[in-house]
Amino acid sequence: MRTLDGAVAVITGGGSGIGRATARSLADRGARLVIADINAQNAARVADEIVDAGGEAAAIVCDVGDDRAFDDLSAFTLRRFGAVDIVMNNVGVLTSGRPEHLPVGEWQRIININLMSVVRSNTVFLPLLLAQGRGHLVNTASFAGLFTYSYDRIPYAATKAAIVQISEGLRLYLHPQGIGVTVLCPGPVATDIMATMPPTFGPDVPTALPGEQFGVLAPEVVGEQVARAILDDTFMVYTDDQVRDVLVERASDWNSFIARQTVTRAGRHEPPPSN
Ligand SMILES: NC(=O)c1ccc[n+]([C@@H]2O[C@H](COP(=O)([O-])OP(=O)(O)OC[C@H]3O[C@@H](n4cnc5c(N)ncnc54)[C@H](O)[C@@H]3O)[C@@H](O)[C@H]2O)c1
Repeated sequence: MRTLDGAVAVITGGGSGIGRATARSLADRGARLVIADINAQNAARVADEIVDAGGEAAAIVCDVGDDRAFDDLSAFTLRRFGAVDIVMNNVGVLTSGRPEHLPVGEWQRIININLMSVVRSNTVFLPLLLAQGRGHLVNTASFAGLFTYSYDRIPYAATKAAIVQISEGLRLYLHPQGIGVTVLCPGPVATDIMATMPPTFGPDVPTALPGEQFGVLAPEVVGEQVARAILDDTFMVYTDDQVRDVLVERASDWNSFIARQTVTRAGRHEPPPSN
C-alpha cells in the first residue's frame, strides 16, 4: 500500500503485545483501527490510547475461536468505518506438554484458535478485499513455524507452520489481484503470551526455552516492522536476521541440522547454535 493514511485496519488480538504495538504504529501513520480482542478491557484500552493520541479507533470483543466472530467483526468495521483495507490475523496461544501427554481436546483448542481463526477470517474478509481489488493481509505466524521449535509445544508450532503455508498460497493468489500479503514470523518478543498458557500437561519438561538463542525484542519494534512491510509490500518479516540465518542453515543440510539438536536423557532440548 502506498499510504496508511485513512486506511481501515482490523487487528485480532489487538489488545496486547504485538497486536497492540502494530495498532499504534499503523495509527501513527494515519490508519483507523478496529481492535478486536477476547479481553474487553485491553481492547478498549488500546482504542483509547489511539484516540487520546489523536487517532481513530474502535474496540470490539471477539473470540476468534467462534464461528460467527468474523461476520460480527466485519459488520462492526463496515458500520463504524465503511471499509476494510488491512486485516491482521494475529491471535496465537501456547500450550505445552510432551506429545504423549497432550490431550486431543487441547490440540483441537490450539488448532481452533490459532489456525481455524485464519480460515474463518479468510472466508469473511477475502471476498471483501477481492471485490475492491486492493488491501493487505498480515498473518502472524512465528519462527516456530519455520524450523525446529520444541518437542513440548508441537501443536503451537504445527499451527504456525500451517499459517506460513496458507500465507504463501494467498500471496500467489492475491498479489496479481492487487492485495498484499505479509507473514510475520517473529523471534521472541516481550509480551504477555506466557500468561495465558495453561499448566504443562503431564510432567514438567526441562527444556531449553525455544528461541533463547535469539534476543528478545520489544513489541514496538515489531509493530514498526509490520507497518513498513505493509507499505513496502514485503511478504516475509522475520523480525530478527538470525531467524533467517537458522532457516538458511536448515535448508542447506536438513539432516545434520536436526541431528545437531539433542534431547538429553533428562529431556532437555538443546537447540543448534545460531550463527
Ligand atoms: N511473543 C512472542 O515471543 C511471539 C513470537 C512469535 C510469534 N508470536 C505470535 O504473536 C501473536 C501475538 O502474540 P503476543 O506475543 O503479542 O501475545 P499477547 O498474549 O500479548 O497478545 C495476544 C492477544 O490475543 C488475545 N486473544 C487470545 N485469545 C483470543 C481469542 N480467542 N480471540 C480473540 N483474542 C484473543 C489476548 O487477549 C491478547 O490480547 C501470536 O500469534 C503469537 O503466536 C509471539
